[in-house]
Amino acid sequence: MDDRELYERAVKAREFSYSPYSRYRVGAALLAKDGRVFTGCNIENAAYGPSNCAERTAFFKAVSEGVTEFEAIAVAGGREGAEFLDFCPPCGVCRQVMEEFCERDSFRVIMGNSAGKLRALTLSELLPYSFGAENTER
Ligand code: THU
Repeated sequence: MDDRELYERAVKAREFSYSPYSRYRVGAALLAKDGRVFTGCNIENAAYGPSNCAERTAFFKAVSEGVTEFEAIAVAGGREGAEFLDFCPPCGVCRQVMEEFCERDSFRVIMGNSAGKLRALTLSELLPYSFGAENTER
């Protein structure tokens, strides 16, 4: 699956965004090494804290089905209404979840905007000098 196709899956997943509080709608499409795609959207909550980002929704769906090896994730985000999509960089918490399951130098995060531009960065570019499993080994 190429980057644009994966990004289109993220745009589609954004349709399910539950974001009545921020009115910022996000969709994600996570490509596993076995070729499967897990989609996710942001899911907000009246108590704010329990809200979940689109990227983590996709990761948790995959991991909860036994899939733990990934190649790339595409993210589509933008304010409700205008439907203008600008590059939506994953938040720090989502980057840390990626760090748990992905190879830093090869896992790619693909972002897009309404002009049809795609921008891809590796996890190590997004999260340099990260804390990972090897830090906890004795
Ligand atoms: N959000 C995501 O789902 N992914 C991101 O990459 C950035 C932020 C969500 C969280 C919240 O529901 C809304 O966007 C505004 O921050």
